[in-house]
Amino acid sequence: MEIPFLDLKRAYEKYGGEIEKVVVEVLRKGIYLNGPETETLEKELSSFLGRSFAIGVSSGTEALYLILKALELPKGNAILLPSFTFVATAEVVVRAGLRPFFVDVERESGNMSLSSLEEIYNDALKKGFQVSGVIAVSIFGIPARLKEIARFCKERGLYLIEDICQAFGSELEGKKVGTFGVASATSFYPTKNLSCCGDGGMVFTDDESLARKIRAMKEHGQTGPYFYEYHGVNGRIDELQCAILRIKFKYFKEEALLREKIAEAYEEGLKELSPELEILKSPPNSKRVLSLFSVRVKKRNELMEFLKKKGIQTRIYYPLPLHLQPVYKEYGYKKGDLSETEALCKEILSLPFFPYLREEEVAFVIEKIKEFYGV
Ligand SMILES: Cc1ncc(COP(=O)(O)O)c(C=O)c1O
Repeated sequence: MEIPFLDLKRAYEKYGGEIEKVVVEVLRKGIYLNGPETETLEKELSSFLGRSFAIGVSSGTEALYLILKALELPKGNAILLPSFTFVATAEVVVRAGLRPFFVDVERESGNMSLSSLEEIYNDALKKGFQVSGVIAVSIFGIPARLKEIARFCKERGLYLIEDICQAFGSELEGKKVGTFGVASATSFYPTKNLSCCGDGGMVFTDDESLARKIRAMKEHGQTGPYFYEYHGVNGRIDELQCAILRIKFKYFKEEALLREKIAEAYEEGLKELSPELEILKSPPNSKRVLSLFSVRVKKRNELMEFLKKKGIQTRIYYPLPLHLQPVYKEYGYKKGDLSETEALCKEILSLPFFPYLREEEVAFVIEKIKEFYGV
């Protein structure tokens, strides 16, 4: 049996007909940007998330960047963020003229550790930096400790920005991830929980003036016809992607249940392999919508190779933490600085995972992993 890591065609087989219909409608209507599909999607998603404003943009990266720029943080100020995330979370900090300070992870979830957050905050102050904010990432769809992080930020007058690119739809204590800070950014990249057929993203906030500013900034900073109040970018999302997203959003809840069913099947099937294989855990009182199903394994490369021979695709998110990436060498990090993150990068492995992965395929993956461990 060949088990793909992710097969987007299966979703297309289910509702591709509906997608094709709306795509043709948009093409025939001749409104390709800033039209009714974008406006309606923004309304649908802001109401789903429980935030007053949503602004569609060209990617999750641009969504994060625009939040940072719109907050007008003093140049060179520090932003605290996990080292265990996709590079875009850090890339935007540098692009916004700010200084990233990388935080270690907690072992059980792979998300930012509260004790490391405090330590790195003090370290930044000691080094003479002013700290402006924290970017909390809910990695793989697992909610970060957002309540505590929000409290931490409030007590110190820091902005909390949420990167929910991998966690759209997840909840913590009855509140959607993406509603704990001043603003949040999601991505519609094809591998995400709610995805389009290309690039796209969205900013969510309750702050009206921030929303107004970001809406202008994603359009070159324009607030009237050829009148520019802000430095902006070309960061629009297009009508075709929004029309596709509106179809996919209709299936979002159903797909979230399918994701959960698969995650639970993996958990049930693999639990006896602990401590050889540990499954990343969500915090108490949370409801996850996982984008990736990831485990920690000691003999990672051997297991990966074994599964590959059996026709099972797996991936490593992420093999090298951000603080050790060559692009950030100017900040002087060295091996051992964030030990939990470094250990996680050596052990993490993501298994095939998407809503339309079949029951027998999940069973096959479990069976082969057990075979590897001789169980
Ligand atoms: C955690 C995280 N942040 C940011 C991004 C950037 O999103 P995009 O690819 O839409 O720019 C991604 C996804 O790619 C991500 O996984």
